[in-house]
Amino acid sequence: MRMYRCRICGETYLGSEIPSNCPFCGAHRELIVDTADYPEDINAVQLTEVERADLETAIELERSNTRFYLAMAQRDDNRTLANAYKRLAAVEAEHCSLFCKLTGQPKPADLREPGDELGSWEADIDESARREHRASDLYAEFALRATSPRLREVWPAVSAVEADHIELDALAKHYI
Ligand SMILES: [Fe+2]
Ligand SMILES: [Fe+2]
Repeated sequence: MRMYRCRICGETYLGSEIPSNCPFCGAHRELIVDTADYPEDINAVQLTEVERADLETAIELERSNTRFYLAMAQRDDNRTLANAYKRLAAVEAEHCSLFCKLTGQPKPADLREPGDELGSWEADIDESARREHRASDLYAEFALRATSPRLREVWPAVSAVEADHIELDALAKHYI
């Protein structure tokens, strides 16, 4: 058994080998390192005005997506899909938490309160795909204008995770 840490969310993973994705934030395996190689001050970043504004936008986006997925997770007519979106809510909450750490602010008080869903799996999954496209595109854009090495690592990593979620939505359609 070894102890690994994710460079994106900072969570610890215990296992015999590096997983394909961080089980907490979804970051890809190349971002998961041995605990000894994890720099404790990784999130001590001096932000530019633009970087701070981009993080604020991302916090609001992740807050909204977390609450949307928590609402989907409450539907009681399909446990498979409800569980999948409960997992997705946890991943987006982890992203929100990371962005809050980077700006030095507390997590939104209502982060774990379910928002509203649209009333059918079909509509909810389409809405999810729309949200994931927006997140992936936005973070790719933020990556281009980020100047700090830390944000130049974080934005592409999280953008790739959101792109994975678009695939998950496509897969979810088969379980309706
Ligand atoms: Fe992670
Ligand atoms: Fe996502």
